[in-house]
Amino acid sequence: MNKIVTRHVEVKPLSAHRSGPIKGRVRIPGDKSISHRALLFGLLAVGESEIEGLLEGEDVLATARACGQLGAAIERKAPGSWRITGAGLGSLLPPRDKIDFGNSGTGVRLMMGLVAGHPVEAVFDGDASLRSRPMRRVLDPLSKMGTEILDQADGGRLPIKIRGARDPIPVEYESPIPSAQVKSAVLLCGLAAPGDTTVIEREATRDHTERMLEYFGADVSVSKHGAHGRRITLKGRPELKPQKLRVPGDPSSAAFPIAAALIVKDSDLVLEGLLDNPLRTGLLTTLKEMGANIEELARREESGETVVDLRVRGSALKGVDVPPERAPSMIDEYPVLAVIASFAEGDTVMRGLCELRVKESDRLAAVAAGLKANGVSHEIRGDDLIVHGKGRAAGGGIVATHMDHRIAMSFLMMGLASEKPVKIDDASFVATSFPEFTALMRSLGADIS
Ligand code: S3P
Repeated sequence: MNKIVTRHVEVKPLSAHRSGPIKGRVRIPGDKSISHRALLFGLLAVGESEIEGLLEGEDVLATARACGQLGAAIERKAPGSWRITGAGLGSLLPPRDKIDFGNSGTGVRLMMGLVAGHPVEAVFDGDASLRSRPMRRVLDPLSKMGTEILDQADGGRLPIKIRGARDPIPVEYESPIPSAQVKSAVLLCGLAAPGDTTVIEREATRDHTERMLEYFGADVSVSKHGAHGRRITLKGRPELKPQKLRVPGDPSSAAFPIAAALIVKDSDLVLEGLLDNPLRTGLLTTLKEMGANIEELARREESGETVVDLRVRGSALKGVDVPPERAPSMIDEYPVLAVIASFAEGDTVMRGLCELRVKESDRLAAVAAGLKANGVSHEIRGDDLIVHGKGRAAGGGIVATHMDHRIAMSFLMMGLASEKPVKIDDASFVATSFPEFTALMRSLGADIS
């Protein structure tokens, strides 16, 4: 396997300054959720899978390295173009060292699910941010499926040592929280179980695992559950066949240049090849309600997902009410929506944000602190965030990013349109999801130094 290096450089402060129009045509790097899954399914299929457009952010590189530790052969043929030769379902090797996922919650939770269905022992770990995040949400269902938790830090936190089940028990699991990571961990463990594994979610979350299971040859059935939920059933022990796939552009990364184009006057930006999955497009729905000038230029199918080209222009925005049931489809976009809402006229009410407290940072607290530092009036009421938009932001603040890439990128976008520059204390974690971010934004006219 090629040596896959995933390490943070030293702390890197950055400032964003009021900029001229954001203009150009860009392709956003590959979707992070789909990139993790493409590698995991490559590990599980016997033979060579080819991935184009893989996101080469640190989170995904950590998953690639973990796949290597569990027996896959991985080769980077060219930028974004990877070949993974799978060990096969049921044939994972016990890792010799602990598996370190750095900053990546998705990587560690999905991989715990996958390992949990194999009779191997593994230790999972991560950086200070990941060590602070709750893992009981996956350990609970995986224990029900027969996995032994051999060691864990306080309250079910990393580092965690597990022994996967020799014969995982197929379960019907109703997830108490809307989480694609929990759903995916159960389904990935269920792959090795002799029978049907069912996950019931009260609110539908991103469905990339289900789509990719089908794409690699598994039998999955999905039906509605209640008003907003789904019931997903997987037949265990399928034969997964290696595949060729192209990863679409990440809508969660696109949210930053989209924000810049909307809030900087006279901007005109085209984004190519963006994933258009209804369980990921809550931000676009919200922005259109706010009056954003976003036009669809083209639409096509790629590897089981739909992709679109979008044109975004500077817009006069108004505040809106974002309902709680929309949260799963835009869960990673609230920090940048809070920034956009600062430049809208009127209140934007974002409801039902409790899951934001357990992301890479406590995003509710981090966003509120960032808004305060930059003179934006707002309040937190229970799990709701209300931004009192005045069509402008003073800026001039220093934002603490708390090892959180999305806090860093969101507040840099604020600085492009605020009166005074916005400074962030550390941009190094941007590399977890969007290594090209600063260069790409500068190429569009953003003044970031
Ligand atoms: C992800 C699921 C979401 C999201 C994360 C990626 C995934 O997390 O916030 O960035 O790829 O499954 P939760 O499952 O915790 O909601």
